[in-house]
Amino acid sequence: MSEPERSGGGAAFDVERVVCRETELGQGGVRAFTIGGGDWPLRGFVVRAGAQLRAYVNRCPHAGHPLNLLPERFFTPDGALILCSSHGALFDKLSGYCLAGPCAGRSLTPVPLTLRGGFVLIADDVDIAALAETAG
Ligand code: FES
Repeated sequence: MSEPERSGGGAAFDVERVVCRETELGQGGVRAFTIGGGDWPLRGFVVRAGAQLRAYVNRCPHAGHPLNLLPERFFTPDGALILCSSHGALFDKLSGYCLAGPCAGRSLTPVPLTLRGGFVLIADDVDIAALAETAG
């Protein structure tokens, strides 16, 4: 998956696609989000992986559970990998690839991002409702 597109602060954007400010990722480097309405909003999380940002649907490819039990708790204790709290699957932050656990070899569903004016947004070409439905 490629680095999010970055554009200038003057560009208009759809506030309904805003995930958070870049600065809101904080030291933990992760932030959960819910975007969209109805029974099946898109639930995901943004992670900082080195100098890059990635977002994934918050659904484990093993049994479909959300990865976190507690808010903003998505990582192994050393912060190096994404951890599914249900059965311990471990995922690479940059690729979403499952390195170990019951779904080894599968991947988290990526959510393409764009960065605009200091905000992290769901990329313009993502059909949020369709992505939420396929992930639900
Ligand atoms: S649901 Fe994630 S490891 Fe089982």
